Amino acid sequence: MIEIFANAQELARGAAEYFVARSGEAVAQKGFFTVALSGGSTPKALYQLLVDLDVPWSRIHFFWSDERHVPPDHPDSNYRMAYEAMLSRVPVPEGNIHRIRGENPDAAEAAREYEQTLLPLDLILLGLGTDGHTASIFPGSEVLHETKRLVAAPWVEKLNTYRITMTLPLINNSAAVLFLISGAEKAGIVKEVLEGPKQYPAQFVQPTHGRLLWMLDKDAASRLAAG
Ligand code: 6PG
Repeated sequence: MIEIFANAQELARGAAEYFVARSGEAVAQKGFFTVALSGGSTPKALYQLLVDLDVPWSRIHFFWSDERHVPPDHPDSNYRMAYEAMLSRVPVPEGNIHRIRGENPDAAEAAREYEQTLLPLDLILLGLGTDGHTASIFPGSEVLHETKRLVAAPWVEKLNTYRITMTLPLINNSAAVLFLISGAEKAGIVKEVLEGPKQYPAQFVQPTHGRLLWMLDKDAASRLAAG
């Protein structure tokens, strides 16, 4: 399903409402909610909005769909972004924050350790890069073909670094996946991913039993046939 919002702020508001609804439902059903946060710049507005909403913080377990190979206090850390925008400002128990240990010099070991901390996920947030990557699954990467590992540490040639990322077997096993995409610079890749032949990593996100939701702002959706 695709939802289109007037601008980036409305997109963040729509995603926040979805987050509140799904976390409320999960907590009512089983007492807790598990979510994987995404990095990049788009979800920051969502995280900031959630701080002031009615969210069952103490019942939520936070994971990350990917992490950069840096320590948690590094400006590029996805954990740091979410911590500063949201987690440091709400009553979530420290033990519910399951960050990827990007400071480990051995990225593969950080990935293996992270696999051990996972719980079944109710919601995975994802972004889309202009090259069609999602999480840290980049075009041409062998991690695209991973079938066993749930978290991996691919070398990302174009960025000259390792990344630590959830893999497709894990992502596609989630109860729900939400893509958040904003901005005119994403319009071309959004069109290719949603309307073109299957070739980009983001197109391999197809939850087996879960829901797949794309939330876009108008600029990102501007080249869609129906947009
Ligand atoms: C990361 C990501 C990545 C991101 C996209 C979109 O760590 O960078 O998780 O997959 O979601 O690159 O990023 P923007 O929202 O910044 O465009």
